[in-house]
Amino acid sequence: MARVGLREWLAIAPVIASGRLSRYGGGQDGPLARFEADFCAAFDVRNTLTVCNGTAALIAALVASGIGPSDEVLVPAYTWIATAGAVLAAGAVPVLVDIDETLTIDPFDIERKITPQTRAIIPVHMANMVCDMDSIMRIAREHGLIVVEDACQAVGATYKGRRVGTIGDVGAFSFNQFKNISIGEGGAIVTNDDHLFARARMYHDIGSVFRGHLDNANEPPFCGVNLKASQIQGAMLNVQLSKLDPMIDRMRRRYDAVATILSSTADLRVGPHNDRSNAIGLHVIFDTEKEAQAFAAENPRGVHRVHDSSRHVYSFWKPILEQRAAHPRMSPFAWAARPMDYSPNACARSLDILRRTCRISLGENYPLPVMKFLARRMGRHRNAPVHAYVTTPDYGT
Ligand SMILES: Cc1ncc(COP(=O)(O)O)c(C=O)c1O
Repeated sequence: MARVGLREWLAIAPVIASGRLSRYGGGQDGPLARFEADFCAAFDVRNTLTVCNGTAALIAALVASGIGPSDEVLVPAYTWIATAGAVLAAGAVPVLVDIDETLTIDPFDIERKITPQTRAIIPVHMANMVCDMDSIMRIAREHGLIVVEDACQAVGATYKGRRVGTIGDVGAFSFNQFKNISIGEGGAIVTNDDHLFARARMYHDIGSVFRGHLDNANEPPFCGVNLKASQIQGAMLNVQLSKLDPMIDRMRRRYDAVATILSSTADLRVGPHNDRSNAIGLHVIFDTEKEAQAFAAENPRGVHRVHDSSRHVYSFWKPILEQRAAHPRMSPFAWAARPMDYSPNACARSLDILRRTCRISLGENYPLPVMKFLARRMGRHRNAPVHAYVTTPDYGT
């Protein structure tokens, strides 16, 4: 998680003094434009659009991709509820797909869940763990599916040398308080597809038809909503972007050190990773649920059993499982081509993995020796007795 401090504070002062707080409130050359240009350069992607949050980025990405009523979109069983909720907001229905031990969407289960109604896959790079993008892109191309990457929890992470979010057709990022770039609320869409970008821009700004920036878009205007970001967000984002790669470097070094200590001295099984040499997300997998509970209880700082973060597990997504929309006649489930399987056991394999897995914080804001010391101490609790109860900490989203 990125730190926010004096530099962000100093960056927003001139924006406030200028009185030009919104993108279209007196010139389009402000901090947002600079951030988008720098983000494109840093992520090697053609287009970046800043929006108000990551959920908005996902919705705009889906709408821009032409996803809508009666379409099915494959989402992993382990993600923040916003991934599945964004699909509903676009008028389509989410189809639950198992994860594997990398804690990301299982390509084998993707293939099993494809139907004639499937239009898109949303691989989610959860907690900086990157998806198997080679397999996902191959499956998508074979079946003519759109890939919308949810990189909200992995801003800046790489898969085989490329930033996640830039590998699929379109990517979504979150810059909320708990993310690698952190400004409280914020998000971005990236894509190399100019047509998709024009549609995302149109959708995110209900006033786009009056701005003139659609003149060359070759896209008939449609009515969007308002998902715009402010120049104050832009000013903070410029500072945060400069902190991103140094932070990723610190995470890389801590991953190597902590993973080595845990697997060698504590004999813990470090979870598999789809690009181990660039890993910045660490988890350990136990044989039984009780062992995972005991390990988390003995190490309340920096360790949590993944299943205890229940809001990220599909079986806790009540409004989706109960298929309820704000208005019954606007419910995407009413247009779906078939009844959806949201039974509590729809992805039993995912539940089993999540119950036996603990995530380890890499402590990127702590000195490396401290993290090594903590990793060695974790090993000492390895055979501690199982606690009678396990608390559910609040990890945010
Ligand atoms: C995987 C995932 N997708 C989407 C989102 C939505 O981002 P935001 O909170 O910025 O709307 C989050 C945020 O927590 C997330 O973790």
